[in-house]
Amino acid sequence: MKNDDKVRADIRSLFEPLSVAVVGASNDDSKIGYKVLDNISSCGYLGRIYPINPKGGSILGIPAFKSMLEVPEPVDMVIICVPAKLVFQTVVHCSQNGSKNLVIITSGFSEIGNLEEEIKLVDYAREYGMRILGPNIFGIYSAPANLNATFGGKLILPGNVSIITQSGALGIAMIGKTAIEKIGLSAMVSIGNKSDIDEADLLEYLVDDPSTNIIMMYIEGIQNGARLTSILKRASKIKPVIVIKSGRSKKGALAAASHTGSLAGSDEIFDRIMKQMGVMRAETLEEGFNWCRYLNNAPLPKGEKSVIITNGGGMGVMATDACEKYDINLLDDIELMKDIFSEVTPEFGSMKNPVDITGGAKSSDYDMAIEAALSNNRIDSVIALYCDTAVFDSENLERMIWKNYTMFMERGKPIVFAVLGGRKVSDSMQKLRSEGVAVFDETYTAVQVMGYLYKFYRNMNETIIPPESSRIERQHIEKILKKVIADKRTFLLANEALKVMEHANILMPRTKVSKNIADAVKIADEIGYPVVLKVVSKDIIHKSDAGGVALDLETREELMDAYQAIIRNCRHYDPEAQIEGIEVCEMVKKGIETIIGARRDRGFGPIIMFGMGGIYVEVLKDVSFRALPLDRREILRMIKETKAYPLLLGVRGEEKKDIDQVIETIIKLGSLILECPEISDIEINPLMVYDQGSGVKAVDARILLNKEGGH
Ligand code: ACO
Repeated sequence: MKNDDKVRADIRSLFEPLSVAVVGASNDDSKIGYKVLDNISSCGYLGRIYPINPKGGSILGIPAFKSMLEVPEPVDMVIICVPAKLVFQTVVHCSQNGSKNLVIITSGFSEIGNLEEEIKLVDYAREYGMRILGPNIFGIYSAPANLNATFGGKLILPGNVSIITQSGALGIAMIGKTAIEKIGLSAMVSIGNKSDIDEADLLEYLVDDPSTNIIMMYIEGIQNGARLTSILKRASKIKPVIVIKSGRSKKGALAAASHTGSLAGSDEIFDRIMKQMGVMRAETLEEGFNWCRYLNNAPLPKGEKSVIITNGGGMGVMATDACEKYDINLLDDIELMKDIFSEVTPEFGSMKNPVDITGGAKSSDYDMAIEAALSNNRIDSVIALYCDTAVFDSENLERMIWKNYTMFMERGKPIVFAVLGGRKVSDSMQKLRSEGVAVFDETYTAVQVMGYLYKFYRNMNETIIPPESSRIERQHIEKILKKVIADKRTFLLANEALKVMEHANILMPRTKVSKNIADAVKIADEIGYPVVLKVVSKDIIHKSDAGGVALDLETREELMDAYQAIIRNCRHYDPEAQIEGIEVCEMVKKGIETIIGARRDRGFGPIIMFGMGGIYVEVLKDVSFRALPLDRREILRMIKETKAYPLLLGVRGEEKKDIDQVIETIIKLGSLILECPEISDIEINPLMVYDQGSGVKAVDARILLNKEGGH
């Protein structure tokens, strides 16, 4: 069996165990060991159940064993609910039993600083081929196995939504909430301290699990983000993946070793990377559940054209705004709209999109308009809005929504309703919702769920493009980095950074230090005019203040004059200063100033950043992020998310800039950080971008190394 298949097979035994043991099972109904056993035995689990308690006897009517050593067969899942100090010994007994999965409910490990004991458990379990879920969890529910191995409520509605949660308390609350909201669960897994099995392992299984249609995750923090992102990317093309992550505040911002670290908090990076992976991020549980419910029931659209049908102009305008926000394309072919809706719209209504059937509309008018949209195959989805009016036959509201919703479901076209009104309308909405009809009391919410259906539709249909990479001269770079590490430095000097950039094929201004005036002329001839002269002296830090810099020298004569002036100025500024030479640099032409940074993020691994560059970068904070590696389409999306993009397109008659070369530079910088694990941060600021075809120039580059020397 291939390793991947084996991992999947192991995880299957967690979701579909043939036998379970509860260590710490108790007849005392105030104890967790009682609740877990009670839930397992009373919620329909058909596998073999082994309660474990040193007293033996029987628990909840099931014969108990005094320890795992007495159990007559290797057990697929052992749920451990004994105090922390007894867990390790239990794990040892499980290894002797040949158990497969250990679900450790017990608290008192890394979450209270007792990491050592947790590592001991995991190391031991791994040595004996056992997997650990937890510790510090409320258990696992799996519909395919009819298994409720939690100490949460008994009432769980089986269905097709799988939930992975890092917070136990929230998980228990979600079980209750999903039952009330009639959201059927396929699985609910608490991952707690994630000592061994983490969300990536579970996701990998659930993505191919036929009983799971939608995956929802509650995450507090990410450890192995690089693995998680690659699985998320695949998963979100197969089924909708919804993430709720706490910690939006800036508190958890990353160490500000570079702009790439300081320009955005970890949450912003998380947000961008989730978008990149096609994951839908919900702000609240309610939002997440709304999406789950809708995405679970709605058929996928067959195309992008949506129509709004309303009896109120204002509601229609709100829905139009919301469509823009949630990326829903409204059908705007006026002739076609007239063809479809002229018969069903009063003269004073509107056949444009939104279709306004006016405040005088009755349920039969809705029926006709909605039916017209359903039977036309140029319309792919419908957003139907209702504002309570005195003329509407309100006794028919429920019937009208139910009938049309059902027809749409049967014909495989998505529809969503938003209804606004008083008590009666609200009661109808609640009733319809409890029957699974997609009806909301907020226009934005209704449009949002449709927007997320489209998001998933686009994820599914987007072709996969292989990530880009660029050849770098790793051996040469390694030599430079080794020297820096030997010098016990974690930063590269300017000339070292320049060399590294050269080996990554990133163009920087050509520069050389001259020892005398003739030398300077020779170098300038090589580089080409115009050039810049800069004094090189460790005694003169502020070169411009000392008159040690001359810009834009166009000819030999100008160069020679400037050379002499610099020497004179510097001698005058500090007669004691030792002048090592004069640096001759290529004069960099002005262009659009951008910034490109790459860093090794603690959660996500190598990430890359692009935005507006130059000296105002900290003020503008106009940057976007992605996890590496990247394909060209995603790089362009990252560029488009910033305000630098319209500038690169050219404003007020300016020429378009060389966006292709910006993309190339991003690819090169990405390859550099991916291939050099020693590097923690790289930053080019500014990267001058010139007119299309004229390329880019990296004016300044900063490179930092990992403190641990690269690994
Ligand atoms: N093997 C099997 N059973 C044993 C053993 C053993 N070696 N030793 C003792 N037991 C029995 C006990 O005798 C007892 O049974 P009894 O009632 O018949 O006497 C049973 O196991 C439980 O042991 P207790 O010492 O009574 O432990 P208690 O049930 O009070 O607590 C628990 C154990 C629940 C694991 C506790 O230590 C704990 O960690 N609680 C927190 C759990 C938690 O909150 N997890 C996170 C959930 S997520 C969230 O936040 C909601």
